Amino acid sequence: MRGLPMSPIVQLPPEPNAAIIDRFALHGAHIGTSEDQSPWVPFGDSAAIRHLSFDVRTGSVCNVLWVKGGGCIGTHRHRAAVSAVTLQGSWGYYEYDWTARPGSFVYETPGTAHTLYSDDPQGMQALFWIHGPIEFFDEHGNHTETTDVFWFINHYVSHCEKHGLAINQALFL
Ligand SMILES: [Fe+2]
Repeated sequence: MRGLPMSPIVQLPPEPNAAIIDRFALHGAHIGTSEDQSPWVPFGDSAAIRHLSFDVRTGSVCNVLWVKGGGCIGTHRHRAAVSAVTLQGSWGYYEYDWTARPGSFVYETPGTAHTLYSDDPQGMQALFWIHGPIEFFDEHGNHTETTDVFWFINHYVSHCEKHGLAINQALFL
């Protein structure tokens, strides 16, 4: 069995664009688990979102969606790809016959429409990486709102400002 190397930081060969990388590259982020790094923001009556990343260049966001047991998210249509890994509980879409459980992977494609539910007593939590806008509809099929990267930013920022919480700039990398 291999142990940790003596010096865990590997020395790489010279990088020809090192100075440019230092000047212009983004250096990534670590969002810890505490509420002050990113709080749970209520999303309707039975769900909450923990925002992790906003990318205004590509119009994409990353977050954890938490739907409490017996909750659902209204019918929506995607205009770009979405992927998700389930962290806790189980959930599905009324339109499909699968059930997502911890560790399973979901990939949603542009143009598809569906209604998320969780009938698990534990509810569900899943990490979503969402590209592009999502159109939401009411139970009669009427369009109600479109969520895009700016909707998600407003969801986070307005919650922080309402509760006197600092805005975590690392979410915007
Ligand atoms: Fe979806």
